Amino acid sequence: MRILVTGSAGMLGTAVMRKLADSGHTAVGVDLQAADPGLRLDISRWDTIRELPAAHDCELVMHLAAATDVDRCEMEPEWALRQNALTPQLWARLCADRGIPIVYISTAAVFGANPKAEPYTEYDVPAPSNRYAESKLRGEEAVREATRRHFIIRAAWMMGGISQEKKFVGKIVAQILAGQKRLLAVADKRGTLTYTEDLAANLLELVASGHYGTYHMANPGVLTRHDVARLIVEQLGAQVEVEAVSSDRFPLPAPRPASEALNNFKLAALGLDRMPSGADSLARYVSLLVPALSRK
Ligand SMILES: NC(=O)c1ccc[n+]([C@@H]2O[C@H](COP(=O)([O-])OP(=O)(O)OC[C@H]3O[C@@H](n4cnc5c(N)ncnc54)[C@H](OP(=O)(O)O)[C@@H]3O)[C@@H](O)[C@H]2O)c1
Repeated sequence: MRILVTGSAGMLGTAVMRKLADSGHTAVGVDLQAADPGLRLDISRWDTIRELPAAHDCELVMHLAAATDVDRCEMEPEWALRQNALTPQLWARLCADRGIPIVYISTAAVFGANPKAEPYTEYDVPAPSNRYAESKLRGEEAVREATRRHFIIRAAWMMGGISQEKKFVGKIVAQILAGQKRLLAVADKRGTLTYTEDLAANLLELVASGHYGTYHMANPGVLTRHDVARLIVEQLGAQVEVEAVSSDRFPLPAPRPASEALNNFKLAALGLDRMPSGADSLARYVSLLVPALSRK
């Protein structure tokens, strides 16, 4: 299959591009950070989308690019809406015009103001609590409205990418390797991890099934940031104290949801849930991350 991937140089995009190549697909990736200058494009512009040869030659668009800096989205809400709501609408329109499907990646954060204690299913009501989540939800709505042939995938606490890793797991491992003996980790936010390698593999299987719709795709097992840090310390056998702190200790422009925990309810019901447990995937990822970061 010929597939166009936006955001191909990002944390998830790198895993998806590798998985597509391994599975025998022909993938063209476009990204502001693309190594090939011809593919280093701003894909939020309709004239760029319209004139991109690969956009007219592909059988599927995987739209992964997004404004992922949650605090910048809070401070620049119109930029967030342009990147995360209008841009997916443009790509979905292109797909609808061409009669091809689209994949759009959304986030567990769309449930930020929904006070449910258990992990969210696809049947829970989104209620964003920050501008990033609001813009991603508007993007979901735009994609649904533009084309029935959509796969909207909500992911949660992403980890992966090794050199692209800019999230919590990478930061904790880097601090341990730097010899820090005491770590602070927030204990009042919970979520489900989402390993990019697992997501990429499960996503391809879902697309191949042709079951269009909205899905949750996360590694099962609800953890706090403190739990994640403790699991990493245990795995590395590091003599490091992990202190549980309140999120008030780290004031940020964008409020973070109390829960970003997802239940892969629909995938499981369709027999398509291949996501391993969060603890197992964390261990697999950390075992790759440590040698890579140690070489730096
Ligand atoms: N990371 C998470 O924890 C998480 C959780 C749930 C869902 N998601 C969603 O998953 C998807 C992938 O996230 P990710 O973590 O892989 O993001 P990422 O690492 O920030 O990668 C996104 C890539 O897209 C590029 N990009 C952004 N806007 C672009 C534009 N207008 N034109 C061309 N390229 C553009 C970025 O370039 P720059 O770096 O130059 O902007 C970056 O290389 C996103 O839709 C995100 O909302 C992420």
